Formats: sequence, C-alpha cells, structure tokens
Amino acid sequence: MSHTSVIAQVEQNGHLNVEPMLNGLPVVPVVVLDNAEQAIGLAQTLVKAKLPVIEVTLRNDYGLEAIRLIKAELPEMLVMAGTVTNQAQMLAVIDAGGDAIISPGISESLLKTATDKQIPYLPGIATPSEAMLALQYGLQECKLFPATVVGGVGALKAMGGPFPSLRFCPTGGINEENYQEFLALSNVMCVGGSWIAPSSLIKAQDWQAIEQRCLTLAESL
Ligand code: 3PG
Repeated sequence: MSHTSVIAQVEQNGHLNVEPMLNGLPVVPVVVLDNAEQAIGLAQTLVKAKLPVIEVTLRNDYGLEAIRLIKAELPEMLVMAGTVTNQAQMLAVIDAGGDAIISPGISESLLKTATDKQIPYLPGIATPSEAMLALQYGLQECKLFPATVVGGVGALKAMGGPFPSLRFCPTGGINEENYQEFLALSNVMCVGGSWIAPSSLIKAQDWQAIEQRCLTLAESL
C-alpha cells in the first residue's frame, strides 16, 4: 500500500489506539515467558487479581507461542505483544491472535503495517520528532521509552505542551517507588513495567507473590 493511501486509511478509519482496550487498567505487566506453565500460570494469576492485561515480549523464541496460548485459554485477557521491531514480527503476532502491538521505537514500516492490518499499535518514542511521526499516522498514544532514562516525569510534562492530545504509557524504569508519580500526570494513560510480575517470581512460578503485588497495587490506586 502506498504512503498516501495508508494516510487516507488512517483518516477514514480513525486511530489505532490501545486505551479503549485497557478499560481503565493502570498498569501493564511487561514479561518474558519461557514455557506454557509460566504463560498459563501468570495469565490466570493476573485475571484472578483483576489485572487482565499483559505485554508478552518477543525477546525469546517462546513469546509468540505464549501469546497464542494465553489468547486461546483466556480470551478475555488483553494480550499485547512487546519488543516488536519489524513487520514480520507484527504479522506473526496478528497470526497468533495478539490484541495489540508494542514496539520499543517507532518506524514507518510498523505504522503502515498496523494501519493496513488495523491492529492497535503503541509505538515507543523518546523525542518530539517521533511524536510528530505517530501523530502523522493518526495515533494518539505512545509509549515513552525508556521512560526514566529519557527524562521521565519532566519529559512527559514537556511533551504535553506541543502535543496536548498525545497520551502516554511510560515504560522502562517504572517501579513501586515511582509509578504513582507517573500515573498522576494528565497525559499518562497507564504505565508499563516488569516490577509487578518480575522474572524471578515468574521463573519460580510464585503466583501467590505476584497476586499479592497486584492486590497491593490495586489498594494503592
Ligand atoms: C523492558 O524494557 O523490559 C520493559 O520496558 C520493562 O522495563 P522495566 O524492567 O524497567 O520495568
């Protein structure tokens, strides 16, 4: 599809935003899953703890299969694919049944493919120029990544000036100490991070500890 017709499609079909799917969920657990036990165990825990959302990163070979399995077993869960860096991965996630695509950066290739396939897409940005590219494609939401490295709360406040309509999901360096500071910003729709379901607890399959973290989070909001 040509650039011009992609843009026309954006204008016709509206933007491909994630926020309506989040339905008010404030935190997206970002995870790496190694096998079916981890995928199902964690997904069931998050659903039970009323945090039915996950970003499964494609940082290992099992990521795609984890997305396919969780959507098959727990279709009510919002399953987003993370660390998507090229078109082939985006197409594979769509094939696996993923609900949305998250990338660490932003590219015209991913913007065009998401528009063409009408799959919600949350690109990572760190600069005003990248924000302008997202807006050019009709997106109204971006991930700020890596959030605490590229300016954190100050960067988000500064982006709010020139881009008042843009909504953010800061990710990278968000933890139990700082998430409330980010969620308090008017242009932050949610935060992403690994602290809710850290790799050590997933590998140990300590679902009780992860559930407790979700409950502590819910009580703090
Ligand atoms: C990542 O890069 O793994 C995600 O953005 C999560 O970052 P975090 O481990 O700092 O929460």
